Amino acid sequence: MRIGLLTGGGDCPGLNAAIRAVVKQALGEYGHQVIGFRNGWKGVVDGDVIQLDRSNIRNILPQGGTMLGTARFHPHSAGAMDQVMATFEAERIDAVICIGGDGTLNAASKVAEQGINVIAIPKTIDNDVWGTDLSIGYHTAVNIATEAIDRIHTTAESHNRVMVVEVMGRHAGWIAVASGIAGGAEIVLAPEEPFDIERIVKFLRHRHRAHANFSIVVVAEGAEPAKGSAMDYEVQLGQFGEIIAGAVGERVAHEIQERTGFDTRLTVLGHVQRGGTPTPTDRILGSRFGVAAVDAVTAGKTNVMTALHNEEVVLVPLEDIAGKVKPVPEDLLRVARVLA
Ligand code: F6P
Repeated sequence: MRIGLLTGGGDCPGLNAAIRAVVKQALGEYGHQVIGFRNGWKGVVDGDVIQLDRSNIRNILPQGGTMLGTARFHPHSAGAMDQVMATFEAERIDAVICIGGDGTLNAASKVAEQGINVIAIPKTIDNDVWGTDLSIGYHTAVNIATEAIDRIHTTAESHNRVMVVEVMGRHAGWIAVASGIAGGAEIVLAPEEPFDIERIVKFLRHRHRAHANFSIVVVAEGAEPAKGSAMDYEVQLGQFGEIIAGAVGERVAHEIQERTGFDTRLTVLGHVQRGGTPTPTDRILGSRFGVAAVDAVTAGKTNVMTALHNEEVVLVPLEDIAGKVKPVPEDLLRVARVLA
């Protein structure tokens, strides 16, 4: 069997663990061949391929990023489905494993509609892929954001400042809520709960008068003010749903400074959250998903995604996932609220 493999969308730590697991399981357990496509679906359209064997995957487990490269490119939107099918035919591809977030998985189900066997593996530091408890990359991103908040804490306290920390999370506030709880933030703003700047200001004034002279406010990049509330701001998304980094953090920091008079600073963590060494949890998750994907391909499964359900790896239909976002559940949002 000749299996195509690609990583699409934004990179994250743990992708190389999944690539390595796919190659090891495919070659070692079943004697399949693995054809890697460089730079996601773009590489499929361009016929940019690399045959993967054990020498390609040596030492990649602890490395961040993806040894295959990635791109935000969707062949169906680019009108390039014919080239996709032509490359698969030229490379004699029997099935494709694609590792990606919502955009890549959406493209995967479009390709599956053309009769190609497709297995998807979820990855995104945002952890918002529907149908899985965890996506590759999230655990590492939360670690990085928590460490950053710990560091910001000491300087906030020394200077008696309000420190606004903007973290990634376009449609869901998983990183903001998790790192906010773990880092002991006073306020966490997530897309799931539109905020009221006046309530934030009231809280900060009270805290600085009665308790402490510094505060940490963690803001997900996709957080928005409640409709009709005092702050007038709307999240602007680009062609692929990308956000203008720092935009909401800057507005929130500005409003806090203006309305309270407290010395306020903004830190935008940005792509730092997507870089570097994956945590053991992400390496293990990538490895488990990679092995499960090859097993699924070999069993003739198609149009499914590997997913973690209550500690177990299962397969879920891709059509159940397309177009959905997994929001932070109420109980987790509540913990962030209660501890603020
Ligand atoms: O999808 C993951 C993500 O890191 C989002 O949190 C963020 O909004 C976006 O990607 C940034 O995309 P890019 O790397 O293309 O700027």
